Amino acid sequence: MPTISRFDVLIIGSGAAGMSLALQLPPQLKVAVLSKTQLGSGSTLWAQGGMAAVLHDRDSVQAHVTDTLAAGAGLCHEPAVQFTVGRSRQMVDWLVSQGMHFDLREDQQDAEFREFHLTTEGGHSHRRVIHAADQTGRALSEVLASRVAEASNITLLTDRCLVDVIKTGSRVCGAYLLSTEHNRVDTVSADAVVLATGGASKAYRYTTNPDGASGDGIAVAWRAGCRVANLEFNQFHPTCLYHPDSKSFLMTEALRGEGATLHLPGGERFMSRFDDREELAPRDIVARAIDYEMKRLGADCVFLDISKRSPEFITHHFPQAYKRCLALGMDITRDRIPVVPAAHYTCGGVVVNQFGASDVPGLYVVGESACTGLHGANRMASNSLLECFVYAQSAAEHIADSITPLSTVPEAWDDSRVRDSDEEVVIQHNWQELRRLMWDYVGIVRTSRRLHNAAERIALLDREVSGYYGRFQITRPLLEMRNLARIAQLMVQCAAGRKESRGLHYNSDYPDSAAKASDSILIPPHFDPASALSGPTDTLPAYSD
Ligand code: FAD
Ligand code: SIN
Repeated sequence: MPTISRFDVLIIGSGAAGMSLALQLPPQLKVAVLSKTQLGSGSTLWAQGGMAAVLHDRDSVQAHVTDTLAAGAGLCHEPAVQFTVGRSRQMVDWLVSQGMHFDLREDQQDAEFREFHLTTEGGHSHRRVIHAADQTGRALSEVLASRVAEASNITLLTDRCLVDVIKTGSRVCGAYLLSTEHNRVDTVSADAVVLATGGASKAYRYTTNPDGASGDGIAVAWRAGCRVANLEFNQFHPTCLYHPDSKSFLMTEALRGEGATLHLPGGERFMSRFDDREELAPRDIVARAIDYEMKRLGADCVFLDISKRSPEFITHHFPQAYKRCLALGMDITRDRIPVVPAAHYTCGGVVVNQFGASDVPGLYVVGESACTGLHGANRMASNSLLECFVYAQSAAEHIADSITPLSTVPEAWDDSRVRDSDEEVVIQHNWQELRRLMWDYVGIVRTSRRLHNAAERIALLDREVSGYYGRFQITRPLLEMRNLARIAQLMVQCAAGRKESRGLHYNSDYPDSAAKASDSILIPPHFDPASALSGPTDTLPAYSD
């Protein structure tokens, strides 16, 4: 039997953003945190390099801001960058207070207070990436999950897939959740709903992301009436392991931060031909350079080489990468590592203000699903976890200050007019087709003709999937396919509208950047200007002091 339950705050997503938000809400609020499958099903668990934060005496907030703005190719919103970076030390302190252990400097064994070991990645002018070896995300997830398990006001709901949020008038009052274990749709009423559902890189055939990264929160917010922005900027990580037995394993950028070099199959280094910063240029530049060289040479991959560092250093700092490659017959202390670019991070997302509030009252969006203005046209490495924690904190404070109980009881889900699907295989094929065409037509290098063709084909897929959704019992694959088809359309719409190349978006028909950078903002069919975030609709919201 479907259930109807009630929480003060319903948080969809148990990654860095969702769990840290739950932990920062006042304990008198009854909170639910949802996970699509098991806990740790999002990208957070897989984060490797670490979290950027201003911690070193020689570093400064201004230097971190300047680097972020440069990586973002003129499109970052400086107030969002200042807001985020300015809170980085505070977020590290909060995580440590929750029990997180970041790596400490090895050369200070005898010091009374050892400093954090800081590594570096592309675009950073200082060492400022705090980490737990090369498994920072796992360590963070475990700490946050154990704090959530201890909190008596927080209920964790696993194997629940958000279908859509429910509105009463213009505001959100709950959500429909598919319980995949029981095969039924439950109704939850809540005074505030938070979407912390991660990114949409699963729209691409090759990705570093786990299976659930289907952009659900972004599609749900769009259907509810929220603007989305900058979805053409899907980031490709330059170095995903290329091996037939390895599915989407990332070779962390911290390897390059610690001296790893990139090589063509013949052994030649090539990055100096593309950027003076060579291997430590921002990600868009390195990924495009690799793509260019692979196409020029007809090569399947390029190679990453860390062997100039000592075996002790490599196994100490990169134990996961070392073991993973060894299991595949490669010893990274000696051997070069075959790598290719893969879809990694959704820089755009749902338009929010500094409190994570969206255009729909009562609906918040935090983490990778949101577009805060921090990343602009290209996210700088390790700024994502920082953004998750900073905006989770400001959203928690805003919810605590503004939450008002609603008396509405949402209507239960009605599936009386649908039947069991006998066409699951078609959904599988549509998934594959969509992801292949996004890779081929909306990849690292785009053309106007390819974007046009992609739009036509995705529209057909979208129509077909909408038809299934109306006729059949919903399943998780159907929900994900429905969301991905929508996200792919929005990505292509943003890309086709940008008549220039900037950051992660390179269109060879418009190779230059326009003099003035502007956001791609899309307005959904159910947008209500009367209740939306204040300010002009064609820019991201302004920040207040
Ligand atoms: P996620 O951690 O992705 O969590 C999403 C949650 O939402 C999950 O619990 C999922 O189950 C749930 N969910 C999704 N859809 C639904 C639905 N329909 N119903 C119910 N629940 C749903 N960033 C850095 O800053 N530093 C790094 O070193 C770094 N390394 C990375 C390495 C890899 C391999 C990857 C993939 C990413 C990396 N990133 C890194 C990016 C960073 O990890 C993510 O951007 C960040 O963790 C996103 O956190 P999140 O809380 O927004 O979402
Ligand atoms: C990595 O470790 O290379 C990923 C870092 C990031 O995506 O920020």
